[in-house]
Amino acid sequence: MVRETDLNVSDLIYPMFVDESLTENAEIALMPGMSRIAERRFADEIARVADLGIRAVMLFGVSAKKDAAGSDALRSDGLLARMVRLAKSAAPQLVVVADICFCEYTDHGHCGVVRDGCVDNDATLSKLARQAVVAAAAGADIVAPSAMMDGQVAAIREALDTAGYTLTPIMAYSSKFASAFYGPFRAAAGCGLQGDRKAYQMDVANRREAVRESQADECEGADSLMVKPAMCHLDVVADVRKATLLPLAAYQVSGEYAMIKFAAQAGAIDERKAVRESLVAIKRAGADIILTYFALDVAREGI
Ligand code: PBG
Repeated sequence: MVRETDLNVSDLIYPMFVDESLTENAEIALMPGMSRIAERRFADEIARVADLGIRAVMLFGVSAKKDAAGSDALRSDGLLARMVRLAKSAAPQLVVVADICFCEYTDHGHCGVVRDGCVDNDATLSKLARQAVVAAAAGADIVAPSAMMDGQVAAIREALDTAGYTLTPIMAYSSKFASAFYGPFRAAAGCGLQGDRKAYQMDVANRREAVRESQADECEGADSLMVKPAMCHLDVVADVRKATLLPLAAYQVSGEYAMIKFAAQAGAIDERKAVRESLVAIKRAGADIILTYFALDVAREGI
């Protein structure tokens, strides 16, 4: 009766990796318990995940067709579009969130168009907008732009509305920090990043700027906001919670997942208790929605 924070499977979004070059699923060494799903196994995997009680998934493509422009992400028969269609036909009731970004599809690993050694913010906007329309046309229930380009939410909203997807909501990765905790994800997604993302992702030292970025995304038409990574930035989750009435998501990222997994494997902590504590803390700080690779464990074993 007096417990202030409640955690349910319906609060969670399960991120999944779909690899178009695999014939069988492959374990991700740096993320024990997670696999890159072979595209031909993906429909079965989605059905299994939905049967276990997962309500929402976030899809990441592991592309074998990377180029400088990330052009596969803009094709209606590209990996992004195919995996959204597969997920929606295998489990129509499942909420499918499409990550909208180019880093999984570019050979340089950056989130947008590179010109003269820099990511060109404005040249990337129209491409992100086209990618969002491709995802919506394939059946995505939510689009989640994670490229951290200024103006991306407005550009995507306008493009979705013009294309007739007026009801497709935008979950904006509004405060995404240039974090050291994305390492296992980049290895899993085969992202050979040249340089770093400090020109477009946020400085981890900046707390007020995170609120400003969130407010800007809200003004541009975001339907929900996000703080990422979650565990290292709970103060930011709390600040953004106070600054907006929108639903707020927080992403427990790959490095945060790996820390818990490997510490538990070494016998340093109790995995189940640590997972529970971390997720409750993220909710207590103010998140309504949590993206976590532990979602399947929570669905299977309870919390
Ligand atoms: C793409 C993207 C990243 C993550 C989610 N979307 C990687 C990055 O910015 O390098 C990281 C997620 C994780 O570490 O779990 N922009």
